[in-house]
Amino acid sequence: MSTTKHDKIQHHYDSIADVYDHHYDHHRGRSYHMHISSQLMRPLPHGGRLLDIGCGTGLFVEKFIKTGGTAVGLDISGKMISRAQWRCPTSEFIVGTGEKIPFSDNSFEAISSLLAFSYVKDPLAMLNESYRVLKPGGVISICTLGKKLLTRGIPAIYQLGEKMKIKHLVMKDFGEHYYDKNEMISLFSEAGFADVRVSWCSFAHIDMIDPLFNFARKVESFVEKRVPQLAYNICVSGRKPVE
Ligand SMILES: C[S@@+](CC[C@H](N)C(=O)[O-])C[C@H]1O[C@@H](n2cnc3c(N)ncnc32)[C@H](O)[C@@H]1O
Repeated sequence: MSTTKHDKIQHHYDSIADVYDHHYDHHRGRSYHMHISSQLMRPLPHGGRLLDIGCGTGLFVEKFIKTGGTAVGLDISGKMISRAQWRCPTSEFIVGTGEKIPFSDNSFEAISSLLAFSYVKDPLAMLNESYRVLKPGGVISICTLGKKLLTRGIPAIYQLGEKMKIKHLVMKDFGEHYYDKNEMISLFSEAGFADVRVSWCSFAHIDMIDPLFNFARKVESFVEKRVPQLAYNICVSGRKPVE
């Protein structure tokens, strides 16, 4: 990861760590995050040891350990990690990047990453590392920004917002990458994963005004399955083959 991009992301998340959870505290934020994390959870085993890359304040770790498993969170932001440790005192949290995972081979049954993959400068390095630390038969599940109709203009809006110094929790120009289906399939396959599955997630956006959000929420599952060009997060899972 180039130092400037890495530092900008890390400083940003360090600076908003104390208010990050407020974003997901009101009802829209909570249902938005719950919706994505439920989809992320679907391919994962119940129980076992999970590594959550870009764990932030530990929202997904908290959800996973309730299924009976144990979890380790990894994030480049020390302040986000501190919040996560406060949220889940019995879990392990480590500062570091998904491109160089500080664990030995075959350490985990599962890997998750929620809304972090698009920040990663070298996505193949993160997937190669994930493959290395997963046990044979282990599962990876990632949900990140998808390249779709509704997301085409977002980078330009973020750049403009940053120039105009508009304060928003995550709307900043970090040069995030928006992924399409074929790109994800070829990255997962190149890293060695089998059973690669892609689905689309999210139509109700956290920043929508209430009546629009409520409507979008009602039609969300229909949109995700039948009109996926309107959904804006992509979820991809794969399995490390058993030799
Ligand atoms: C939008 S937040 C998502 C946090 C959490 N997964 C959630 O669902 O609330 C993105 C997180 O990814 C982290 N991040 C960005 N690039 C990373 C990288 N290369 N390795 C690990 N974490 C990273 C950020 O520090 C931030 O905490």
